[in-house]
Amino acid sequence: MDQNDLEFTMLKKLINKNLGFNADQYKDAHLRRRIDVRLRSTHCKTYGDYINVLKQDSAEYVVLMDTLTVNVTEFFRNPEAYDVVEKEVLPAAIMANENGPLKTIRIWSAGSSIGVEAYSIAILLHKILSINFNKYKIIIEGTDIDKACLFRAEQGVYTKTEVKDIDKAILKTYFELRDGKYFVIDKIKKVTSFKRHDLISGPKKRGFDIIFCRNVTIYFEKDLQEVLYMDYYNALKKGGFFVMGKTETLIGPSKDLFKPFNTKERIYQK
Ligand SMILES: C[S@@+](CC[C@H](N)C(=O)[O-])C[C@H]1O[C@@H](n2cnc3c(N)ncnc32)[C@H](O)[C@@H]1O
Repeated sequence: MDQNDLEFTMLKKLINKNLGFNADQYKDAHLRRRIDVRLRSTHCKTYGDYINVLKQDSAEYVVLMDTLTVNVTEFFRNPEAYDVVEKEVLPAAIMANENGPLKTIRIWSAGSSIGVEAYSIAILLHKILSINFNKYKIIIEGTDIDKACLFRAEQGVYTKTEVKDIDKAILKTYFELRDGKYFVIDKIKKVTSFKRHDLISGPKKRGFDIIFCRNVTIYFEKDLQEVLYMDYYNALKKGGFFVMGKTETLIGPSKDLFKPFNTKERIYQK
């Protein structure tokens, strides 16, 4: 191991210990790319220099965490996938629950960033159910490791840039424009909740009709991806759906358990 690798390993240990961020489970190439952003900003030449910056300035940890968790997201990201979600996946989940005494629909947005995935799903459910929306107990749980993102998700307030690609009719119906900001309306907010949960070390979840985990596992090592896909399989009800990101691929034992539902849009069924 050369000096650079040694210092990188030391830095990962510090990140594990002080940020509770399981750096070993993320792809090294991804971590190096992200950490290098902080090296450049703090004028460090080596990981060793950067360790010294962290030791002298604990506020740098906050910025580092923000840099490590890539929070890029969009309302209705990959509209073709949301088209299938709206026309096939959500109606199937509604049908599966329509005869139950509680008519409960439970959906998990795993790695929810600033909440726009959860709100996109809630909006589509409202579009589909219309006046019957209140007859269902709809629970959309967004979880993320990044507290700053969770805070924004809970607020449900977005900038003009963040809503720029939303269909105008949807924007008008489901957002209120106040002081130049777009507020998600209460009807949609009240079916969503956001919590801190680490996909790597957090408690296992159960009982979902649909799980969205999109553009999160790409940053993880393959072994962890396999474990998480099995976790999602186990967390789904029979007949439940798993919606992945466009560039993600199902691997490991869950690949033989899940039924392909729409392989192009990376949607699988238990
Ligand atoms: C690129 S965003 C994806 C957001 C959304 N799913 C989408 O597709 O638009 C990835 C999110 O995963 C979160 N994340 C990264 N590692 C995580 C972990 N171990 N547990 C929970 N969330 C994690 C990040 O904080 C970030 O908000």
